[in-house]
Amino acid sequence: MCGRENLTSSQTLNPTSFYFKSMSRPFTRRRFIGTSAMAGIGAGLVASNTAKAENKTTVGKPAILGGTKTRTTAFPGWPQFDARDDQALLQALHSGKWGRLIGQNVVSFEKAFADVAKAKHCVATSSGTTALLTMLGALGIGPGDEVILPPYTFIATYNAIVFHYALPMFVDTDPESFQIDARKIGAAVNGQTKAILPVHIGGSTPDMDAILATANARKIPLIEDACQAHLAEWRGRVVGNAGLAGCFSFQASKNLTAGEGGAIITNDEEFAHRCYNFHNHGHGQMVAGQNMSGERGANFRMTEFQGGLLLAQLTRLADQAKTRDENASCLTKLLSEIPGIRLARSPDGCTRSSHHLFMFRYEKEQFADLPRAKFMKALIAEGVPCSSGYLPLNTDSYVKGLANNPHYQKIYGKETMAKWQERNQCPVNDKLCAEAVWFTQTTLLGSRTDMEQIAEAIRKIQAHAGDVAKV
Ligand SMILES: Cc1ncc(COP(=O)(O)O)c(C=O)c1O
Repeated sequence: MCGRENLTSSQTLNPTSFYFKSMSRPFTRRRFIGTSAMAGIGAGLVASNTAKAENKTTVGKPAILGGTKTRTTAFPGWPQFDARDDQALLQALHSGKWGRLIGQNVVSFEKAFADVAKAKHCVATSSGTTALLTMLGALGIGPGDEVILPPYTFIATYNAIVFHYALPMFVDTDPESFQIDARKIGAAVNGQTKAILPVHIGGSTPDMDAILATANARKIPLIEDACQAHLAEWRGRVVGNAGLAGCFSFQASKNLTAGEGGAIITNDEEFAHRCYNFHNHGHGQMVAGQNMSGERGANFRMTEFQGGLLLAQLTRLADQAKTRDENASCLTKLLSEIPGIRLARSPDGCTRSSHHLFMFRYEKEQFADLPRAKFMKALIAEGVPCSSGYLPLNTDSYVKGLANNPHYQKIYGKETMAKWQERNQCPVNDKLCAEAVWFTQTTLLGSRTDMEQIAEAIRKIQAHAGDVAKV
């Protein structure tokens, strides 16, 4: 038990169901909007040495074998909304000011989000992807440049680099944290490296001290992909503040959402201006009669509807985050008692995770060699939705195909591109992708009983793993 039953406000507020039906297939965001919660808040809770498997007689039969399903109700749905959101959208509608260049909602949201993130500046964008494109564009990154990124991320991180015709350089994953292995970044830096782009995957953090030390020593800008990490902290500071800038996503699955949307935070005024300009076709704030000649850029502006809705959604972010924190601690405690469940562990400096994903490695040896896919099928049958997470990005056929892309061959030469493909080995990440299991952030908006039922379902499957393997 983790504590008393705790019915969250989210359960009463939410009218929609967010119950995934087929989550045992490999993850793509469009099929399974990527969410779940990262274990631990730097608390260092890991599988305990005293962990002991249940035996068949002490737990019931799994649902997949004809036993009683552990859970019959869905976890809280997403997004959550009420009259505050109705009002925000209607206000934007009736104002007749639907674009940021003529309205005030986006500006107000930028101020509010900068406040929450304790950053000096915020530039809102149409999505997390366009926030990434804007940061890279504002840095002037282009053909011939290299950008360092992890392979354990959503494809947007990679695509943003490739859109600028820069070369994405993968650095392998740390299996304990699921984050980029900070110790390996230095070896990937060379004269062409123009940015280090770590990702706060699942809402936790990589070792930001080590990353910042490398960035500073090699004088390379550090920009953070914090698209999954709203309110996460490294040593008490909200992520996105460690280096030059960081960005967030407000896409439908994210902990703060307007369906789509994004934001960049920075403490560098000049960089904030450059980001604003880039996301606005190379222009600063338009002044009537101003000369239209600007810099390189595009229209990545957020709408007033998104801005208004995000202001309303912000009013419940802190409460939702607290609920996730409490449930993640509870689930961490419960699952660390089960052999073969190796929880993703935040580095010590991570003082808060956003718990966008709750991730663990499944060790089938502790489950009578029951394959992961069958374990997940059995878990879903218990009423616990889960996903196998990302496939290895660096070996994806689209990503590998970059070596044969005619534009890349023209820019970098065939030989360099062939070497690039050869170099893209991330064996730790390959193994992680084969073992990972995720729960969504909405799983952590449930009650303590929900957390206990997740653990109960896993224990049931473990006790009967040999029989489950035969189904
Ligand atoms: C790590 C990461 N980076 C970037 C993005 C892109 O954000 P968006 O979907 O808002 O464009 C996402 C969204 O899923 C993400 O998870």
